[in-house]
Amino acid sequence: MSADHFYRPEDGHGLPYDPFKAIVAPRPVGWISTRGPDGAVNLAPYSFFNAVVSHPPIVMFSSDSEKDTVAFARQTGEFVCNFVSAGLADQMNLTSASVPRGTSEFDLADLAMAPSRVVDAPRVCDAPAALECTVTQIIQPLDRHGAALDVWTVFGEVVGVHINGAFLNDGRFDTARADPVTRLGYRDFGRLGPVFALTRPDD
Ligand SMILES: Cc1cc2nc3c(=O)[nH]c(=O)nc-3n(C[C@H](O)[C@H](O)[C@H](O)COP(=O)(O)O)c2cc1C
Repeated sequence: MSADHFYRPEDGHGLPYDPFKAIVAPRPVGWISTRGPDGAVNLAPYSFFNAVVSHPPIVMFSSDSEKDTVAFARQTGEFVCNFVSAGLADQMNLTSASVPRGTSEFDLADLAMAPSRVVDAPRVCDAPAALECTVTQIIQPLDRHGAALDVWTVFGEVVGVHINGAFLNDGRFDTARADPVTRLGYRDFGRLGPVFALTRPDD
């Protein structure tokens, strides 16, 4: 058996690169679009993202420091979470560039916008699905000593769901066909492996 590499994060990981995000992987990418109060459009990927409640559906994303996405979500109370097919990976990556506020990452990455139905923020036209969200909470996570971190976690209730019909199969969202890009650690991304079903013991 290989020796266990143990570390306490406060002491450093003792490895060439921090393994944390490679361990907590794969993570879905929430590609968050927002519109600022002045109408400016913003789009950026967040892999500290997930669904956290199913009824009502609630998603969250977490930002290291208050980036434009958090600022716009706070100011308007809205955001849209777009999903990333493998074919959109390069454009998604381009939208993570640091650009001055007011520069539309849709233009930067040559992405078509589509209007949302319930919120003002636009969505990515070619995404297999998009969730229109109303902000429910913005919290600052605490460390174990109770100190607030410079991290902002935004929760939003899903108030509108768009599904591109090409990814509906017998009334089910066909995740495999949507071919989602997932975030691993380092510079790595993943794609879906074989899909299999399990029946729960209580079913
Ligand atoms: C795949 C991917 C995932 C990312 N996930 C996060 C994240 O979870 N939290 C974060 O703060 N930044 C994350 N980033 C970096 C932001 O996308 C980047 O800082 C971006 O410029 C923020 O844009 P904004 O200021 O318009 O919100 C990620 C970047 C990529 C490429």
